Amino acid sequence: MSANLATVAYIGATILFILSLGGLSNPETARRGNLYGIVGMTIAVLATVLGPRVTAAGLPYIVGALVAGGAVGLYAAKKVQMTQMPELVALMHSLVGLAAALVGFASYVDTSIVYEGAEKAIHEVEIYIGIFIGAVTFSGSIIAFGKLSGKVGGKPLLLPARHWLNLAGLLAVIWFAVAFVQAPDVQAGMTPLVVMTVIALLFGIHMVMAIGGADMPVVVSMLNSYSGWAASATGFMLSNDLLIVTGALVGSSGAILSYIMCRAMNRSFISVIAGGFGTGGGAPAAAAGGTQPQGEVSAVNAAETAELLRGAKNVVIVPGYGMAVAQAQHTVYEITRLLREKGVNVRFAIHPVAGRMPGHMNVLLAEAKVPYDIVLEMDEINEDFPDTDVTMVIGANDIVNPAAQDDPASPIAGMPVLEVWKARTSIVMKRSMASGYAGVDNPLFFKENNRMLFGDAKKMLDEVLGALKA
Ligand code: TAP
Repeated sequence: MSANLATVAYIGATILFILSLGGLSNPETARRGNLYGIVGMTIAVLATVLGPRVTAAGLPYIVGALVAGGAVGLYAAKKVQMTQMPELVALMHSLVGLAAALVGFASYVDTSIVYEGAEKAIHEVEIYIGIFIGAVTFSGSIIAFGKLSGKVGGKPLLLPARHWLNLAGLLAVIWFAVAFVQAPDVQAGMTPLVVMTVIALLFGIHMVMAIGGADMPVVVSMLNSYSGWAASATGFMLSNDLLIVTGALVGSSGAILSYIMCRAMNRSFISVIAGGFGTGGGAPAAAAGGTQPQGEVSAVNAAETAELLRGAKNVVIVPGYGMAVAQAQHTVYEITRLLREKGVNVRFAIHPVAGRMPGHMNVLLAEAKVPYDIVLEMDEINEDFPDTDVTMVIGANDIVNPAAQDDPASPIAGMPVLEVWKARTSIVMKRSMASGYAGVDNPLFFKENNRMLFGDAKKMLDEVLGALKA
């Protein structure tokens, strides 16, 4: 393939990647988005392998690597459970980081292209930055994988003077960068490069170890962003435009996602990265501050819940982390179908950080075949609660906590929440009065128009379904 044709193919692939990201922003177009991505990646790989920079002698190695990598990817994708998705993603990010670091070293020792003067300095800075980002992404992602899979404890590791340690590491990295660029030859440059790589690896480990298990979704999204920048840096090293653009797309979309998640949790990005929030099992230490809610709690049973649902015209279901834990989505769908057949208008309200990963609830509801058109984002449905007869909150807590609006001293003050208490009746389904991820008590449970249905979400919903059918 000629260089010109390869460039045209690269432009086509870039457009497909942009369309892919656009498609993935909505459940209805997500499949199409995936397809664009697959076609774009196929074009990109073919244009690179058949392009002018690969010699015939190198082809067997590339094909061998493609087959081996493809087989591992296929096996992992078939085997992985939906709940293990974040750890698989973390593992994949580690591979991107490792690849960027290795390409950096290979590019440095490669003497086939000779750089002179300013070009040499620029190339070396690209290598240095590429290896740094790659090494941080690699070790950070491995720790994130360990934490998400329970192999490494979720408790944040807070070393004394850890911010000073990070600062000292950063200064050392800058100092070695100067030594690296000034090195007269490859051999002399190798020492500062290797020392910086070790510091970067330690930095990645330290950064993610300091973050509590419950904050890992933000960290995975941030590492996703890093892996994009690592790929982009690799693109600069290899003078590959497609890799630069694709890396920048991944890097910026990961950064935007991290920002959206932090904003929806009302936490600053810096506070997440600074670490220390959230403990192992997703149940962090009780947060300080805020008024303790008091009053009577009205409990209902499954039959009474079914009665309330039967008498309603408009029902809004709010799923949360507990629905995912209980794997109750299929029963939720059965109940939805039954109510819709009886003429009840049933819709779903999705909070941007419901559950523990972006799109967690959308994925579960799509898996249970809930129609997309009745699944609405928080901003689309929040004003409809006053006209709703019954809201059914299934294993959600923080995302429906009125203290976020009413109590300025609450640790979640300012976090946007679903205003379920404005409905005629709200029913909260959970096992106990325990707090959610943020460790904050919920005054919703004590409101006059609220009912509590205590028990495992799947078990209780099965009973509600049985009562509705009876
Ligand atoms: P949470 O506030 O964590 O509340 C979930 C509730 O589910 C718990 O209070 C728990 O109460 C209940 N539960 C657990 N297992 C259950 C089961 N088997 N059956 C019934 N109920 C069960 O969840 P949420 O409302 O979805 O809010 C998400 C939280 O996670 C937010 O604070 C958010 O900031 C945070 N977070 C989200 C993300 C993303 S990207 N989604 C990332 C990081 C952090 P019981 O123990 O009493 O049953």
